[in-house]
Parts: sequence; C-alpha cells; structure tokens
Amino acid sequence: MTSPSSPRSNGGGKISSLSLSSDEIRMWLKEVDPARLEELWHRADTVRHLSVGDAVYLRGLIEFSNYCCRQCSYCGLRRDHRLQRYRMTEEEILASAHKAVTLGYGTVVLQSGEDRGMDPRWLAHVIRRIKEETPLAVTLSVGERDEEELALWREAGADRYFLRFETSDLALLWKIHPPRNHSQSSPSSPPKRDDLKEVEAIHPRITILKKIREFGYEVGSGVMVGIPGQTWDSLVQDLLMFQKLDLDMIGLGPYLPHPETPLGKEASQPQEVPADTLTTCKMIALTRLLCPNANIPSTTALATLDPKEGRDLGLQRGANIVMPNLTPPQYRRLYEIYPGKGNPEETAEAYHRTLCTHIEALGRTIGRGRGDSPNRWARR
Ligand code: 5AD
Repeated sequence: MTSPSSPRSNGGGKISSLSLSSDEIRMWLKEVDPARLEELWHRADTVRHLSVGDAVYLRGLIEFSNYCCRQCSYCGLRRDHRLQRYRMTEEEILASAHKAVTLGYGTVVLQSGEDRGMDPRWLAHVIRRIKEETPLAVTLSVGERDEEELALWREAGADRYFLRFETSDLALLWKIHPPRNHSQSSPSSPPKRDDLKEVEAIHPRITILKKIREFGYEVGSGVMVGIPGQTWDSLVQDLLMFQKLDLDMIGLGPYLPHPETPLGKEASQPQEVPADTLTTCKMIALTRLLCPNANIPSTTALATLDPKEGRDLGLQRGANIVMPNLTPPQYRRLYEIYPGKGNPEETAEAYHRTLCTHIEALGRTIGRGRGDSPNRWARR
C-alpha cells in the first residue's frame, strides 16, 4: 500500500488536497494494522494543523422544531413516529442565540426536521433578528427545501447550509430515504456504483447542494457510516464525492439504530461496514486528507456511540469543530433522531466547561469568531 504523500500548500494559505486513488482509499478504510492506522491518524492530524490550525470552533446547535414530513426509515423524527412534536418560539430561539454569544460561540446552527408547517417567512424573520442582535454566523439545517425558500433565507442573512447526502449509493438511498412526493420518483435502475458523474446528476440532495452553492451559502454535507447494506465501495464513492463537490463543511457520524423506526426494527444481519468508532474515524481522517480546508465536526453521533472517547478521537483524527447543544432542556429529549443523543440533564454551561477542559488537554485552543471555512475564502 502506498502512503499518502505530504500535502503542499498552494501559496494562498490553502492546502492542496491529496490525490488518493479509489484503491488506496479502499485499502485505508479496510486497514487493521495498528501501526498503519497510527500513520493515518498522524497524517490527518498534521494536515488538520496545517490547513485549519489548532483552534476548535464551537457551533451552538438549536434544534428548533422536530416536525418532519419525511419518512426516512432510519430517523426517529420520521413523520409516522408517534412523538410529541414541538416548534420553538421566536423568543426561545433568540434566547438560545444570545446564550451562544455569552458562551463565546461564533455560530448558531438552526436545525429542524423537514417542517412544512413552518412559515418560511417566519424563519427568515428569525434569521434577520439573530443577525441584527448578535455577531453570529447562522447555519441552516432544515432539510430539502425549494429554491424560493433557500433564496429567502440567504437574503435574510443565513451564511451556511448543511444537508447531508447520507450515502452516494443511490439504490441504498432509495431504500432508506423515500422521495417526498410522487413527482420525485426513484429511477427503476440506479446507476452503476462507480459512476460519480451520474450519481452527481441524479442524487436528489446533491442537486439541492448545487443550488445552495449558487445562492452563495457556505455548503455542508456528509454521510452516515455503517448503514445496513452500505459497502466499502460506497464509502470510497462518498469520499470522492466530498472532494468533487468541494464542500466547506463535512459531517460524518455512525448510523445508530432507533428501535422505533423501520430500519432500526430490522433484524441485524452481518454488515460489510461496521457502524463503529474506528470506521467513523477512518472516514474523518480520509476526509481531512481529501478535503484539507473543510470544517469537519467531531459529531454528536460519534460521541453518543463512544461517550468516553468519541469526541476527542474525532478531534485528534482530523476534526476541528464541535457542536454543543443549546436546545432548551424541555425540547432536547424530543429531538430524538437516534436514542441516547446527548445528556438532556446537562446544562449548556456545564457542558461548555467540560468541553473546554478537554479541548485544552488535547493541546488545542478554543476558536474565536465565526470560523468560516478557508475553502470559501479561497473560492472568492
Ligand atoms: N443514526 C445516525 N445518524 C442519523 N441521522 C438521522 N438518523 C440517524 C440515525 N439513526 C443523521 C442524518 C441526518 C442528520 C441530521 O442526522 O445523517 O442528516
């Protein structure tokens, strides 16, 4: 197996991505030798240091609505899951945003299910108020939305948009993520796995990600790791797709079965790709090598899977972002994408203190300001 060569700075402070072939990526994903894995972690951490530096940026997560019109077979917010639904008020969202400022965060992430009962003009108004009253960057993560809505929110001042494409394996996507309506029908024969261009043209979320970029948002996406039926080849494809889309933010988390969902209820069969800490970390590390300038969070899903070490391992193997939860405690337990997400009892202040201690113990600093992706600046 060849080793990835050293990254080269292209002179503008931006680090060039490594060129790794599909075969090399696949070999790294399947690597089990501890010494070789140490080499991968070391390279990812070095590239992270050179490209985005030692600061860990904190993004305050506000899960403002758990309504969802979609029927994703893996997600606890799916429409048919009988769950107490909530939508935070404007004042509650603003209070959470002000808390983000108090804690020193530079960004809030407004996340919800795909909530069609929410008036898009209301969200635009909330964004406008956050931008008027605080210096925060605003990231939206509100699902597959129409162009008019994306334009409206961008105009209101939203800076970034996050929409995971979940998997580049279209056959798997059709299975776990049914289309919203019949006009968005699934093709009867999905394209060959290795045809990146074709996947790019057909994948419903990638089509939207392109629009998001056109509107001038910083663009984030990502996938779940270890979905039942996922293959090593499809993870290779996911990584090459991140690079092709030139993403600014890339979120990677293990798939965590929710027992009240169709996929979570399926009897577990032997899986090609395990939904474990090691595989998630390999994906984070390879993402850092292929997309050196992207902001990469150490995700809540990884910390939920591995409460003792997950978050810190992510940060040591390529990640540079953490997203502390600022959702008010009474709503937090209802935003149950998967079970065991975070600790609803822990206050934002208490979590913040522990987080800062951990980050400093890793020899890292807490990022100040918005922490925009160097990718975006380079593109301008
Ligand atoms: N396990 C892990 N991640 C999940 N997500 C949704 N359901 C699950 C699950 N069961 C992730 C998806 C989605 C993001 C908001 O949460 O990747 O894009």
